[in-house]
Amino acid sequence: MMNFELYNPTRIIFGKDKLDSIDKYVPADAVVLITYGGGSAVKSGLIEKVKKVLGNRKVMEFGGIEPNPRYLTLMKAAVMVRKEKINFILAVGGGSVIDGTKFICLASYFKGNPLGILEAGFRPITPAEVEKVIPFAAVLTLPATGSEMNNGGVVTYAHGKFPFKSDMTFPVFSILDPSLSFTLPKIQVANGVVDAFVHTTEQYLTYPVDARLQDRMAEGILQTLVEIGSTNIAEPENYDARANLYWNATMALNGFIGVGVPQDWATHMMGHELTHLFGIDHGQTLAILLPALLEVRRKNKHAKLLQYAERVWGISTGSEDEKISLAIKKTREFFESLGIKTRLTDYGVNPAQIETIVGHLREHGFTQLGESHDHSLETSREILEKAL
Ligand code: NZQ
Ligand code: ZN
Repeated sequence: MMNFELYNPTRIIFGKDKLDSIDKYVPADAVVLITYGGGSAVKSGLIEKVKKVLGNRKVMEFGGIEPNPRYLTLMKAAVMVRKEKINFILAVGGGSVIDGTKFICLASYFKGNPLGILEAGFRPITPAEVEKVIPFAAVLTLPATGSEMNNGGVVTYAHGKFPFKSDMTFPVFSILDPSLSFTLPKIQVANGVVDAFVHTTEQYLTYPVDARLQDRMAEGILQTLVEIGSTNIAEPENYDARANLYWNATMALNGFIGVGVPQDWATHMMGHELTHLFGIDHGQTLAILLPALLEVRRKNKHAKLLQYAERVWGISTGSEDEKISLAIKKTREFFESLGIKTRLTDYGVNPAQIETIVGHLREHGFTQLGESHDHSLETSREILEKAL
C-alpha cells in the first residue's frame, strides 16, 4: 500500500425529507445564493422548497449553470457574489451545478486571474491564492460524479474541459435525498451508473499494491452497481435501488477507495475531449472508452483485470486471458444493458475524426496518461480506433 493522507470534512445528510437540515446548518444570518442549472430544480418545485426552509435569511438565485459548466457563466455568478456580499452558496442540482459552484466559491475572491484556477489543473488551489473562499453546501439531484462529497470539479473554457481542485472546496454539507432524482430522464440515470462505475475502475484497474480493503471496497461498489443498475433504469421511483445508487456514486469518488493505491484517469481525460468536441454526455464517453482501453492496456493491467474478472464478474473457468476477455465483454454488455451505446460510431464520430481527438489530447498535454504515465498519444489513438 502506498503512503496517503485522507481529508474529507463534508457532512452527509442522507434520506427522505431532509431539506429542513438546511436551516440547521446554514448560519441564521447568512446571505445566501442558491445556484442551479437549466430549470429541472425549478420545475420540480425544489428551489421553492429550499427557499422556504431558508426562512428570513436574505436569499438570491443564480440559475442557468449549463451541463459541463462554462467559465463565462460562472464568472457572472462570481461578480454577483462580490456585489451582493454573498457569504453562503447552496448548489441545487447534479455534478455540473455543484462543480460550477465550487469554481464560483474559489473565483469570487481569487487573488489573480480566475483562469489560473483552471491552469492549475491537478495542483490544489491553496489559501495563499485567495482572499477568502465562500462556503457552500449541495442538494444533490443526480447521483453520478461524487462531487457532493469531494473537492474537485471540471469547468469548460474555450477549447476544453479543465479539472480543478482545492481542500477549500469540499461542501460544508450535502443533502442526499434519492427521491429528488426521481424526475431524472433514464439516460441521465444510466450516465450516473457508468460514471460511478468508471470512477471506481480508475482507482482499481491499475496494478496491485496489496491494498486489500480498498480493493474489496472498489469491488463492492462495482458488484453493487451491476446488481442495481438496470433496476434504477427500469423502476425510476424504486427508492431502495436509487438510495444504493446515490451512496455508491458518492463512495466511488469521495477519496476513500483512492487512498494508498495507484490511479489511472486516462478514460476520463480522453472522455473529456469527446464531450468537448462532440457534446457526448460524460457518462457515455466513459462507456465508449473503458472497454477499448481495457483491451489495449490488458497487459499492463493483467493482474488487476484477472482479479476483477474473478471477484466482480465471478468468472472462474478458462485461462487467465480468457477470463480477462470475458470480463471486458461483460463490462461492455453491462453498459449497453443500461441503454448506453459503447461505440464511437453510435455517436456519429468517424475514423477521420480520431486525429482531431488526438490533437486535442496533445494540446492539453495528455501525452503520458495512466497509473504508470506510459499511456502515450499512440496508446490513445489505438484505444480510439478500437472504440469505433
Ligand atoms: O440543468 P439542470 O436543470 O440541472 O438539468 C440537468 C442536466 O440537464 C439534469 N438534471 C439534474 N438533476 C435532475 C435533472 N433533470 C431532471 N431531474 C433531476 N433531478 O441532468 C442533466 C445533466 O446534469 P449534470 O449535472 O450535467 O450531470 P452530472 O451530475 O453527470 O455532472 C456532469 C458534470 O460533472 C463533471 C463532468 O465533467 C460534467 O461536467 N464531473 C465532475 C466530477 C467531480 N466533481 O468529481 C468527476 C466526474 O468525473 C465528472 O468529470
Ligand atoms: Zn466521471
